[in-house]
Amino acid sequence: MTQDQRTAPDRFQTLVDNDERIEPRDEMPDAYRKTLIRQIAQHAHSEIIGMQPEGNWISRAPSLRRKAILMAKVQDEAGHGLYLYSAAETLGVDRSELLDLLHAGRQRYSSIFNYPTLTWADMGAIGWLVDGAAIVNQIPITRCSYGPYARAMVRICKEESFHQRQGFEILHTLSHGTPEQHAMAQDAVDRWWWPSLMMFGPPDSGADQSKGHTAQSMAWKIKRFSNDELRQKFVDMSVPQAGVLGLTLPDPDLHLDDETGHYRFGEIDWSEFFSVLKGNGPCNAARMQHRRAAHNDGAWVREAATAYAEKTRARTAAGAA
Ligand code: 3HC
Repeated sequence: MTQDQRTAPDRFQTLVDNDERIEPRDEMPDAYRKTLIRQIAQHAHSEIIGMQPEGNWISRAPSLRRKAILMAKVQDEAGHGLYLYSAAETLGVDRSELLDLLHAGRQRYSSIFNYPTLTWADMGAIGWLVDGAAIVNQIPITRCSYGPYARAMVRICKEESFHQRQGFEILHTLSHGTPEQHAMAQDAVDRWWWPSLMMFGPPDSGADQSKGHTAQSMAWKIKRFSNDELRQKFVDMSVPQAGVLGLTLPDPDLHLDDETGHYRFGEIDWSEFFSVLKGNGPCNAARMQHRRAAHNDGAWVREAATAYAEKTRARTAAGAA
C-alpha cells in the first residue's frame, strides 16, 4: 500500500471536503479542536443551566401528569449535558476543567436561560419556543464534521422533539382554557419570543459577526447553516404554529413576504443580547450562584465515585497479578 504522501492538513481537509467524519484519533488543526471544545462545552453548559428555569416549576406543576412530564424533561436535559461533556472529552479536555471555566465565567451558556420563569405558562413557552429553536439549531449538527458531536445530536434531537411537543400542548391547553389562562399563555409567549430568536446567535450579515465564528465553522462543516438562515427557518416554522395555538407573536412587523415565502420580522434588540452575554440579564447572577452551589454540594458524590473507581481498579489489578 503506498504511503499516504499528503500532509496532515491535506488529509483533514479531504475528509471535510468529502463530507466524511473527523474522529477523535484523526489529526485535526488546533483551531478546529479549540472551536469544537468551545461550542460543545457551551452546548453542554446550556443543557445543565437550562435545568434551572424549568426545575423551579416541578413542585408547582398543576397536575401529577404535568409534574411527571416536566420531571422527565429536566432529567433529559441533565442527560444531554453529560452526553455533550462526553463528546467534548473525546477532544482531550476533562469535564471538570470545562465546569471550572464555566464557574469562573470564562465559558458561556445560552443567553436564553438568563430569563425568569414567572408562571406555569413559561413551561409551555420554553418547550415550544426554546426547545423548538434548539431543534432547528441542532438537527444540522447531526451532520457536523466531528463524529462524536454529530452522533450525540441524533439522540438529543429525538428527545427535544418530545420537549417541544409537551410545551406546545401546555400552551394549547391554556390558550383554549379560561380567559385568564389564555392571557397567561400570551404573556409567556410575549416574554420568550425575542430571546428565543437571539438563541441562534448574532447576525451573520452585521458588523458584529465579523468577529463571529460562523464563516470558519461553516468552512469546517461544524455549522451547516448560518445563524440568520436557522433563525429564519425557526420563524417560518413558528408563525403557523402560533396560529394553531390561538396566540399572537409580539412583533407588529411580522408579515409573510409573498415573493420569498418567508416571514419578515422586526429588528432584534442586539444590545439586549450582548448585555445578557456580559452578565446583565435578569437571572445571570442567580443561575451562576445556583450552579456553583450545586457543584459544591455534589463534591462528595464525585469524591465517593472516584474512591470507588480507584478501589475497584486496585482490586482488579491485584486479582490479575
Ligand atoms: N448564548 C450565548 N452566547 C452566544 C449565543 C447564545 N445564544 N449565540 C452566540 N453566542 C456567542 C458565541 O459563543 C460567541 O462567543 P465568543 O465570541 O466569546 O466565542 C459569540 O457569541 C459570537 O457568536 P457566533 O454565532 O459567532 O458563535 P458560534 O459560531 O458558536 O454560534 C451558536 C453560536 C449558534 C449558539 C453555536 O454555538 C451553536 O450552534 N451551538 C450549539 C447549540 C447550542 O449551544 N444551543 C444552546 C441551547 S441548548 C438548549 O437549548 C437546550 C434545550 O434542551 C432547551
